[in-house]
Amino acid sequence: MKKIRVGVLGGYRGNAMIEYCKKAENAEVVAICDKSAYVLEKQKGREGAENITFYDNFNDFIKHDFDAVVLANYATEHAPFAIKALNAGKHVYSEVLPCQTLKEAVELIEAVEKSGLVYAYGENYCYMSAPREMKKLYREGKIGEFEYGEGEYIHNCEPLWPSITYGDENHWRNNMYANFYCTHSIGPIIHITGLRPVSVVGFESKITERKLRQGSKSGLFGIEMITLENGGIIKSIHGDLYKNSVWYSVYGSKGRMESAREDAGDDFVNTLYVNADNYSGEYPEDKKAIKYKPQMNDLAKKFGHAGSDFYPMYNFIEKIKGNPDADCIDVYEALDMFLPGLMAYRSVLKGGVPVEVPNLRLKSERDKYRFDVACTDKKIAGDQVIPVFSLGNPEIPKETYNAVKKEWERRVADKEIPY
Ligand SMILES: NC(=O)c1ccc[n+]([C@@H]2O[C@H](COP(=O)([O-])OP(=O)(O)OC[C@H]3O[C@@H](n4cnc5c(N)ncnc54)[C@H](O)[C@@H]3O)[C@@H](O)[C@H]2O)c1
Repeated sequence: MKKIRVGVLGGYRGNAMIEYCKKAENAEVVAICDKSAYVLEKQKGREGAENITFYDNFNDFIKHDFDAVVLANYATEHAPFAIKALNAGKHVYSEVLPCQTLKEAVELIEAVEKSGLVYAYGENYCYMSAPREMKKLYREGKIGEFEYGEGEYIHNCEPLWPSITYGDENHWRNNMYANFYCTHSIGPIIHITGLRPVSVVGFESKITERKLRQGSKSGLFGIEMITLENGGIIKSIHGDLYKNSVWYSVYGSKGRMESAREDAGDDFVNTLYVNADNYSGEYPEDKKAIKYKPQMNDLAKKFGHAGSDFYPMYNFIEKIKGNPDADCIDVYEALDMFLPGLMAYRSVLKGGVPVEVPNLRLKSERDKYRFDVACTDKKIAGDQVIPVFSLGNPEIPKETYNAVKKEWERRVADKEIPY
């Protein structure tokens, strides 16, 4: 079988996609790029490195002869690299998030349309066992039409923070506003229903001591209340509450589906409860939910995160190969998963009013946003810069970052950093 040749930008999270290519039969990694000497050294020491060319800069890397690029660089910098890669004739798999600003969103869509190449968004939580099965059942009409859903992605990253921010005050994780990383909570509900978000109201939690001692300037968590095109509503919550949770629930006109919560047991994300009538208005007495254990294929079982490190890459490669059944998240859907967070923070900054979510599928909508560069990075936003916390950025002493950096250096020395 002809293998798709892949280049990977970012060898840290990118390692999951590198591992996919090593184990799967439809792709191979031929080039890796990372500006960090530490990450490159790690990758050079891994099995199969002799068949890979290594780069420390994107401009040389993108000239390498490969078919597709995986972008696993900083979450705020995917769009500019995606556009360059598409213009260089490479298919693109982008880690979350798809872009940082509305200007980039417009440019990204137009680059994908112009190229005719595959753009796949790596919103891997859509492919975890429960949400993957929920999509199948929803599309079969199991619970009727979507009315309400909830998505939770709670990840207390404090134990990891030194390993993933290295004490760098300017690292994107220290500078993302509370609603920015909204994709894992919103994404699965969007992918299950296929409905477009039309407006959003945002909420931002307070800043806590836990955040400040890590060097992060944002509220602890964000909430988006999103209205979809059919009038259905999503509640999305994500952030660093103390106890982790990945959980999805969807109500329709004749039933409900929901995944199990973390405290329900070790196999929670692989468990799904479905309680649905045969028709709306049936109301049989004592109807109990059916417990499903969605099946993963044998190859997917070799990968982490309940299959979510397998399926998105598998489908991306299959899409490139022309498989009509490949289940990819295209650029429009990617923005449906991200723009509600971006617009929710605007809602927060305006005191909690509902804000329209742009429909960039429409060419007529795009001109409104072509020069909208508002974000927390002054280099990108100029005088449109917005604070990381709505009431103004907190003062975090240099010593905080120095202490995180020291801990990062200790972990490197003691070989405690993964990959
Ligand atoms: N989907 C998931 O489950 C999941 C999990 C973790 C991270 N992520 C995403 O993966 C991406 C990467 O996150 P991360 O945790 O690996 O860490 P990160 O964002 O700190 O680093 C990414 C890597 O890219 C490299 N890099 C950045 N810019 C570069 C450039 N211009 N040229 C060459 N190399 C460059 C860095 O040196 C680093 O090794 C982010 O977008 C994040 O949102 C997703």
